Amino acid sequence: MELMIESSYDALSESAARLVETALARKSDALICLPTGHTPLGLFRKLTESPKAPERWRGATVVALDEYLGVRPEQPHSLIGWLRRELLDGLEIGNDRLLRVDPVHPEPSAACAALDREIEERGGIELTVLGLGPNGHIGFNEPGTAADSATRVVRLAEASIASNAAYWKARGGYEPEYGLTLGMGTILRHSKTIALLVSGAHKADIFQQFLRQSPSPAIPATLLKQASRLIVLADEAAAGKSE
Ligand code: F6R
Repeated sequence: MELMIESSYDALSESAARLVETALARKSDALICLPTGHTPLGLFRKLTESPKAPERWRGATVVALDEYLGVRPEQPHSLIGWLRRELLDGLEIGNDRLLRVDPVHPEPSAACAALDREIEERGGIELTVLGLGPNGHIGFNEPGTAADSATRVVRLAEASIASNAAYWKARGGYEPEYGLTLGMGTILRHSKTIALLVSGAHKADIFQQFLRQSPSPAIPATLLKQASRLIVLADEAAAGKSE
């Protein structure tokens, strides 16, 4: 594991952008897996603000890490819809260069298995960028997830359902109970490099647990330590070095 403590969120985002650009330079038709959430927003801004961005991404395909089951991209709570607005449109990446599980597929488990097969057939993911969940989750791989888990439908942890419900209450009410997520096994087996981004003082506790603990399903993020190459980028606030 390579650990990089960055002086600020901006510096973290800049370093993450360099990792993405290096992956694209290495393989112009790379698969790049990306999360949603607050943490990657700075990275997404860095990636989209360069006028050369669409050109740089021309051959690349984005793999979406997770989505709510049954939610279409045009619905307001869709994670993929959010990813499109925050990143994909700016990079001029259409649906033909987006790999994801169709959230309204009539057989979601078969669609999950098909995504894993496609990732494998395309030679794996050049770079997988991840955020650290407050309980150590990765995507929708909640505590208790096996290290060899495939891409699948999951019931969200009660804590995640509750925090989502609070968020969506103000936006017309919505309580997702099930999600689709790339499995920990899929991520570990098929990612050439994994970049775990950790930002903010509210992540300091879980980040310390992540650093101290050996790989265990109790904190899914610790399973990433078994990856062939894991780069952890944390800002000083998450590392407990500043307020
Ligand atoms: C989002 C995802 C989640 C988040 C995690 C951290 O696609 O997979 O695992 O990365 O919950 O979220 P933020 O970045 O909002 O703190």
